[in-house]
Amino acid sequence: MNAPLKHTADATTVEEGLAIQQAQAVLDSESATAVAMRDTLLTPRFYTTDFDELDAVDVTPVRKDWDELLAEMRADPNKGHFRKTADWDHVDWDGMEPELKKEFIDFLISSCTAEFSGCVLYKEMKRRGKNADICELFSYMSRDEARHAGFINDALREAGVAVNLGFLTKAKKYTYFRPKFIYYATYLSEKIGYARYITIFRHLEAHPEHRFHPIFKWFKEWCNDEFRHGEAFALLMKTDPRLTSGVNIWWIKFFLTAVFATMWVRDHQRPAFHRALGVDTTWYGQEVFRKTSEISKQVFPITLDIEHPRWRPNLDRLERASRRIDAARKAGGIGGFLGRMAGSAQAAAAFLGLLTIPAVTHRVPAETRLQPAY
Ligand SMILES: [Fe+2]
Ligand SMILES: [Fe+2]
Repeated sequence: MNAPLKHTADATTVEEGLAIQQAQAVLDSESATAVAMRDTLLTPRFYTTDFDELDAVDVTPVRKDWDELLAEMRADPNKGHFRKTADWDHVDWDGMEPELKKEFIDFLISSCTAEFSGCVLYKEMKRRGKNADICELFSYMSRDEARHAGFINDALREAGVAVNLGFLTKAKKYTYFRPKFIYYATYLSEKIGYARYITIFRHLEAHPEHRFHPIFKWFKEWCNDEFRHGEAFALLMKTDPRLTSGVNIWWIKFFLTAVFATMWVRDHQRPAFHRALGVDTTWYGQEVFRKTSEISKQVFPITLDIEHPRWRPNLDRLERASRRIDAARKAGGIGGFLGRMAGSAQAAAAFLGLLTIPAVTHRVPAETRLQPAY
């Protein structure tokens, strides 16, 4: 007889969290996994890197902050949190407006894929590393992301869909990034993840009538995990001042622009979802950019000028181009091909328009560590 299955919320290691999800995989649906498999500029990707280079990082220059952060992660404040409790209200999936249901499921699948993408990368670093500091950090971060992905999969399963994470690990394409690009991209995605979740959480705290699904009640502790992950990457970048100076400032600007623009375009593709939340997508985007910019001053010497007169028009242009590419892809044929080319050219021009807005420079504080303040 099989022992009763533990829940991913109680898993203390990434291996345990993944084994539990693998045991549930028989229930997982093909269409959700197919959505998670998609690789476009806008969908979450899986990453791989030079693990030996990452493993060689010496955290001595940030030792005091590092030890404090790791102690927090070791204490595991969110163990057991990511599970359905009495607070999990019944979700009327069948009664949900079809457009909202479609967009919300798409949101959950893409969030689950993003969580799992972090999980896979962090787990691989933990598995390959020999550096005790690095291995310990990545074991905690992969543990957290396995729980997050598992919890979203719980929510999806109620709607009759779930992502087959075991299959994704093997079948999804991996994109190679040098460690420094992993730092910029992952630091930003952790911090923007925090800003997104806390903004939604605070909004729904004030307007509970818009909370159309219980998962939003879990966002506060959730975003604290992401905040800590971001802190870890900030400290990793602090170990080498070259990572945030010289030509690398251009890379930072590129990643800031790409991460912000991607979020903007994706969110504007989910109007029914934001309407249901009672959130103006444009306000939400700018608010998340503001919080992320403020936080990223802890380590980046520049922030994007999100109040610049060219900022919003180019984001809107990018969004229109993305719609055009999407429509052309659906149309297919030679017309579709030409439409895709034209859309891509427009998107590239809009992105260049964003990238050429002068950045705001400032001094980076000597003390890096921040606490979640929103
Ligand atoms: Fe996460
Ligand atoms: Fe994270």
